Amino acid sequence: MNKYSVAQLLQSKEFLQEITIKGWVRTFRSNRFIALNDGSTINNIQCVINFENTDEKVLKRINTGAAISIKGTLTESQGKGQSVEIQVNSLEILGDSNPDEFPIQPKKHSFEFLRENAHLRVRTNTFSAVMRVRSALTFAIHQYFINNGFYNVHTPIITGSDAEGAGEMFGVTTLNLKDIPKTETGAIDYSQDFFGKETNLTVSGQLEAETYAMALGKVYTFGPTFRAENSNTSRHLAEFWMIEPEVAFNDLDANMDLAEDFIKGVLQYILENCKNDLAFLDQRFTKEEQSKPKLQRSDMSLLEKLQFVIDNNFKRVSYTEAIEILRNSKPNKKKKFKYLINEWGADLQSEHERFLVEKHFKCPVILFDYPANIKAFYMRLNEDGKTVRAMDVLFPGIGEIVGGSQREERLDVLIEKIKTLGIDEKELWWYLDTRKFGTAVHSGFGLGFERLVQFATGMGNIRDVIPFPRTPQNAEF
Ligand code: 4AD
Ligand code: MG
Repeated sequence: MNKYSVAQLLQSKEFLQEITIKGWVRTFRSNRFIALNDGSTINNIQCVINFENTDEKVLKRINTGAAISIKGTLTESQGKGQSVEIQVNSLEILGDSNPDEFPIQPKKHSFEFLRENAHLRVRTNTFSAVMRVRSALTFAIHQYFINNGFYNVHTPIITGSDAEGAGEMFGVTTLNLKDIPKTETGAIDYSQDFFGKETNLTVSGQLEAETYAMALGKVYTFGPTFRAENSNTSRHLAEFWMIEPEVAFNDLDANMDLAEDFIKGVLQYILENCKNDLAFLDQRFTKEEQSKPKLQRSDMSLLEKLQFVIDNNFKRVSYTEAIEILRNSKPNKKKKFKYLINEWGADLQSEHERFLVEKHFKCPVILFDYPANIKAFYMRLNEDGKTVRAMDVLFPGIGEIVGGSQREERLDVLIEKIKTLGIDEKELWWYLDTRKFGTAVHSGFGLGFERLVQFATGMGNIRDVIPFPRTPQNAEF
């Protein structure tokens, strides 16, 4: 272990003697200056070696990517760009890095290239910054809920139910795929499978979380989620992480208040605690925006966007109002949308969501009261009989970041709904029990963690905010 991290040394108020520091070489120039990084901060510490005293063989091994251990003295820096540096007394190569083979050279690499080297890309400034912010957001999320009286619940990853009813699930089986047992009718005989029934990876922990909210009051899950949707977009992963709070006695308005306060709270946390990483990502974002055509450029920097979200109320708009706005919008009239909005009932695509957020309201938007037939079975039916108490939070550059609802707490209405959708009531017996025993108004939502990290870091592609992305045709690493 290092006694000190690079982060600590860079902030040190005293010039320390006889320190040991270990890390990886980022660059080595003039046979004298090593930029050393140990992951504790985006900043490198400059280590100055006296090459006359250093074995030539060792000098040759100080290559980008090599792991080294340095003993030396922390002094005031003679050069520009840093306040302190290390005068090296002795240097040991812990692990070599062959410069002809190491793919991460000190130059700009494309994100595509780095995705192919996902095991090494975290050694770049951009990815290490993104992953530190991701970690800070994880902490902020747990802190937010725990500070607000929530309990963390670990809902199952292997389930027998399809919470979203979308059928986009990965099956889990130990059956021999080369010799699948069949029933008399020719169907797969899941009674012979590991769990004695058909199972899959969860698409949401919500249904189980609801049962816990009915006893613990305020709960949240934060776990991996799996969707076998064949969407090759910059916002979809087959494996992603979702945060799902569920609160007894909350109606939809309280649910919207929670989502808004929660998102603002965790963004505030990273603004206060990830200053160096965000400053770097802010510059990166600005550079990238400048390379885009003028009309597509963000008119705010990354830091301005984060502050803007924290400082402004999310605009709350009903689906019906949104449809009117979209129907009369320029891109709809000029047939610029890929999916034109002609009538009430249309499902909104991300182009519509982004129009509302980026062009029309110019702030985060919460859409609510969607048509029942484009939403999941568990959402509470409104008095009008055709809309449900659903809410989606839409963000600039991202589109939908949160999906949630007030839940249907009335047993008869829920059973009716399940029947019309052809869902097997017996499969959901335990879920229906919550409506039989002490049912109550309750609400919750799901926040896509990677979409939040995308927004927080200004990264354009969701594959670049999770260490090892899983997407169709891709499960390397
Ligand atoms: O809107 P969704 O499907 O809602 C649910 O699953 C509810 N059960 C949540 C709840 O009420 N407890 O998903 C929630 C969020 C989306 O808004 C989006 O941010 C994210 O999860 N999401 C994805 N993120 C990355 N890749 C995917 N394939 C995603 N699908 C959904
Ligand atoms: Mg949704």
